[in-house]
Amino acid sequence: MARGRFISLEGGEGAGKSTQLEALAEALRGRGLAVVVTREPGGSPGAEAIRKLLLEGDENRWNPRAEALLFAAARSDHVEKTIRPALDRGEWVLSDRFLDSSLAYQGEAGGLGIEAVRDLHRFGSLDFLPDRTLVLEIGESEGATRARVRDGNAGDRIGSRPPSYHAAVDAGFKAMATKEPERVRLVDASGSQATVTARLLYALADLLP
Ligand code: TYD
Repeated sequence: MARGRFISLEGGEGAGKSTQLEALAEALRGRGLAVVVTREPGGSPGAEAIRKLLLEGDENRWNPRAEALLFAAARSDHVEKTIRPALDRGEWVLSDRFLDSSLAYQGEAGGLGIEAVRDLHRFGSLDFLPDRTLVLEIGESEGATRARVRDGNAGDRIGSRPPSYHAAVDAGFKAMATKEPERVRLVDASGSQATVTARLLYALADLLP
């Protein structure tokens, strides 16, 4: 049996990522593929436990390096326990966020640098990468960023960071698309839900059986 494909969906806060993830999974199932939907931080029992440590509590609960290590530890468990086994069964895996979130949030916005965070991934997950990473992108003004961030995950440790942090996250995703154009594709998140889903499918067209 052919190995499945691993696709990650990325984007800043409030880009409509979760809705699109479900729509994309349905579209792929409609093509006869077995699809597993998962998320980060989390996606395995151990990683879900780490998720709580990361998203709950005080902003100062973790220093930036400890935070990056926790994300990398959660990812290592997620890859081993959930993603690789599904791919080995021939299934497609769609993950709501993966490595590029760490590169953009902890590496770019958090100031650790993209290379340092990539090194953690080399250690934790043997540099296991998605076959394709789709970044939902909203072109917008700074005011709109502020509103989006406010209405997004303002309740959690990371979602509640200032608009300047989230602007740096968006820049980090763009940098990844420039750096690895074959793997990372920017997808315009404007327009109707169906239009955006069609754009996502188009960005996967060369991987479809
Ligand atoms: P979640 O509620 O899953 O948010 P979203 O709907 O935006 O995906 O919360 C995940 C939060 O953790 C989000 O603010 C992004 C952040 N995050 C990182 O900072 N680094 C990472 O590596 C990952 C996977 C997520």
